[in-house]
Amino acid sequence: MKKALHRVLALVQAAGLDRALMRLAKLPLLRNYILTNCWEKRTYHSFAEQYHQWQRIFAQADIRISGKHILEIGAGGCGGVGYFFLREGATRWLSTDQYQDPQTNQRLRKNEARLRAELRQQTPSFESLVQPEFRCFDAAKLQNDLEGKFDLLVSSAFFEHVQGEAVSRIITNMARYLKPGGLMFHEIDLRDHLNVANPHHFLKYTETQWRRLTENSIFYTNRLRSQDFKEAFVGAGLKLVHLDETQVPLPKDLPVVEEFRRYRPADLQTTVLIAILQKP
Ligand SMILES: C[S@@+](CC[C@H](N)C(=O)[O-])C[C@H]1O[C@@H](n2cnc3c(N)ncnc32)[C@H](O)[C@@H]1O
Repeated sequence: MKKALHRVLALVQAAGLDRALMRLAKLPLLRNYILTNCWEKRTYHSFAEQYHQWQRIFAQADIRISGKHILEIGAGGCGGVGYFFLREGATRWLSTDQYQDPQTNQRLRKNEARLRAELRQQTPSFESLVQPEFRCFDAAKLQNDLEGKFDLLVSSAFFEHVQGEAVSRIITNMARYLKPGGLMFHEIDLRDHLNVANPHHFLKYTETQWRRLTENSIFYTNRLRSQDFKEAFVGAGLKLVHLDETQVPLPKDLPVVEEFRRYRPADLQTTVLIAILQKP
């Protein structure tokens, strides 16, 4: 099903109709409607898969979860993967998000109830486990009461969605939530979200064109490249302790616009960046 959708989207892109699709997605209120009612439902299995993937990376980087206080930024309105880490022995999991609020969004509440029902079946001691907490806030606004409270901060598919100008401020805030020596883990999806199977297509648009086509729509991503994020993390005084970059070659006939030509080819080719950083 996904493959067929990607093929249709590739045809749409090849025919130059992607602009029309992006303009359609900008219709007033459509973004909110999609985010509230149609966004892909996360299931027990998708969270379990994410948990196992992160667990493997944490094991490679020698990160232990037991007893840890963990903060998730841009969680998507659900305790999600947090339930699995609490089951593994973490002692606190705080999920946060600016827009997706399970207190006001019934659909998110229903999703979480389904996840909890499945977890209850799989885990006899579920009710006696610590439960994830949730809080709604903009990651660009410092939350004073969270300063220095966490051993580990995590985010996935979050950083590419924030306004480019806010990235440094968000990283500085994140660092303040960590205890000295604390770690942060980020998985950043650098692909064109219109069609992730054609991940570099959006490099053909200038920044002005891109903003006009996608601002305030579900297709907006800041298009910062791997190098920008690495520089921003190091610039905030964090030490890079683990790096994993998935790379996909650029199509030879893609007309990459001038503003992306200053990047090294390897940085343009990175489609997913996984970085673990340490606060001194
Ligand atoms: C693509 S979703 C990813 C959700 C989840 N992490 C996942 O992997 O499924 C990106 C999330 O980031 C949130 N977000 C975007 N900008 C934010 C900000 N400035 N502060 C906090 N959350 C933000 C959005 O509301 C959205 O739920």
